[in-house]
Amino acid sequence: MRVAAIGQGFVGLPLSIAMASSGHTLYGVETNPDRFKSLRACRSYIGDVTDDELRTETGNGRYLPVPDLAEVPEVDVYVISVPTPLTEDKLPDLVHVDRALAQIAEVARPGVLIVIESTVYPRATRDHIAPLFEKLSGLRPGTDVFFAYSPDRVDPGRDIELCDIPKLVSGLDDKALELVRNFYGSVFKEVVPVTSCEVAEFTKLLENTFRYLNIAFVNELSKATSEMDISLREVVSAASTKPYGFMPFHHGPGVGGHCLPNNVHYLSHALNSAGHKSELLAAAAEINESMPRHVMRRLALSLEQQGKTLQGATVLILGVAFKAGVADSRNSPAFAIGAELVSMGTTVKVTDPWLGIDMAADTFTAVELTAEECRDADAVLLVTDHDEIDYETVLASSRLVFDCRGVIGAPEVEQL
Ligand SMILES: NC(=O)c1ccc[n+]([C@@H]2O[C@H](COP(=O)([O-])OP(=O)(O)OC[C@H]3O[C@@H](n4cnc5c(N)ncnc54)[C@H](O)[C@@H]3O)[C@@H](O)[C@H]2O)c1
Repeated sequence: MRVAAIGQGFVGLPLSIAMASSGHTLYGVETNPDRFKSLRACRSYIGDVTDDELRTETGNGRYLPVPDLAEVPEVDVYVISVPTPLTEDKLPDLVHVDRALAQIAEVARPGVLIVIESTVYPRATRDHIAPLFEKLSGLRPGTDVFFAYSPDRVDPGRDIELCDIPKLVSGLDDKALELVRNFYGSVFKEVVPVTSCEVAEFTKLLENTFRYLNIAFVNELSKATSEMDISLREVVSAASTKPYGFMPFHHGPGVGGHCLPNNVHYLSHALNSAGHKSELLAAAAEINESMPRHVMRRLALSLEQQGKTLQGATVLILGVAFKAGVADSRNSPAFAIGAELVSMGTTVKVTDPWLGIDMAADTFTAVELTAEECRDADAVLLVTDHDEIDYETVLASSRLVFDCRGVIGAPEVEQL
C-alpha cells in the first residue's frame, strides 16, 4: 500500500516505521520544520524509533518524509496522527484534525481509506470528521471514501514492540472495517475489530481514564497517609502481593503528557453530551490537578524545618519530562510546580537529561546537574525519576532532597 501518514510525532513516527518495515510505502508528512529537518537527516526525536531504523527505511525507499501533503503522489491510505488538545475551557479541540482533513480533501481520490489514530471523543468520527470531509471534498463517506478509527495504544518509553500491541480497528461501515482490518493485519500481529467507531473511540478513553482515576485515588490517599505517618508506597507494594483483583498505581506530583490529562476531559465532554455529568471524573481531575500545589506546600514545610521559607530560596527541579525515560514535557507537573514556586518568590532551576535547554520556561533557568548546582540549591526536588539522573551526586551534595517518586531510599530524603 502507499500511505500518507499525517503527523510524525510520538504516535505517527513509530507507526509509519512499523508500516514501512512491513513493506508499505510511507510518506511521513510533518509540518514542524525542526522535526521535518531531523527526519530528512535520519535523526529520530522519538525514543521509540532509532536513527538506524530511520536510515534503513529511508535507504530502501519505503519511508519518505515530506513537509506538505501537497508533495505526496497518489496514495491508497491516509493515517491521521495529529494532536487533539483541549481548548481553554477544557473542551475537545479538533482543529489539527480539521486541518489535516482539509489538506486530504484537496488531494484525495475516490476509493481511499482514511484512518484516524488521534484520540477523539465518542461519535467524533461519525458526527464531525466524516461530515466535515464530505463538505470539504464532495466525496461521500461509505461510497467514495472510507473512514476508520483505530486508537493508538503506544506508551512511549515502554519496552514493547508496537506491532505486538493488539490493534483495535473500527470502520464507519462494513467496507471501511474490511479495508482497515486487512491493511492493519499486514502490520500488527493481532488486529481486534470492534463493531463501531464509537466503541473504539470510547475504548481508548476508558483505557486512559481508568489509569487517570486510579492515580487520582492514590494521589488523594497520599495527602492523608503523609499526615498519618504511613508509607503509601509500602501499602501499595504490600497490596500488590495479592494475586488477583489489585493493580498497583503510584502517587506522584501530578499527571502530565498529551493523553491522560486531556482524555479525562474528552470523556467528560462525551458524557455531558449524553446528558450525564460525571462527578467522579471531575473529582479525579481536581485531585490530580491539585498535586503541584500540594508538592509546593509540602516542600515549604520541609524548608520551614530548616528555618527557611520558599521566598528567596532556590529550588533545583530534577526531571521536567512528564514521565521517566521520555523527551516529552507536555503538561508536565514540573512546570506547574515551578510556577507555584515562582509565585512564592522562589528561584527555580531545572535539569533534565532527556530534554534540551529549551525546556526552561521564561521564569526558570535550565542547568546541568552538577554537585555545585545541588549545593547552591536550598532544596532539590525530584519530579521525574529518569534512570540517567546521578542520584549519588544529588544525595551527597544537597542540603535537602524532596522525592516525589519514592526512588531515593535514603532516610534523610523527604518523601511525597
Ligand atoms: N503520545 C502518546 O503517547 C499517545 C498515545 C496514544 C494516543 N495519542 C494520541 O495521538 C495523537 C497524536 O499525539 P502525539 O503524541 O503523536 O502528538 P505529537 O505532537 O508528538 O505529534 C503530532 C505531530 O503532528 C504534526 N502535525 C500537526 N498537524 C499536521 C498537519 N496538518 N500535517 C502534518 N503534520 C502535522 C505536528 O507537527 C506534530 O509533530 C493525539 O490525539 C494523542 O492524544 C498519543
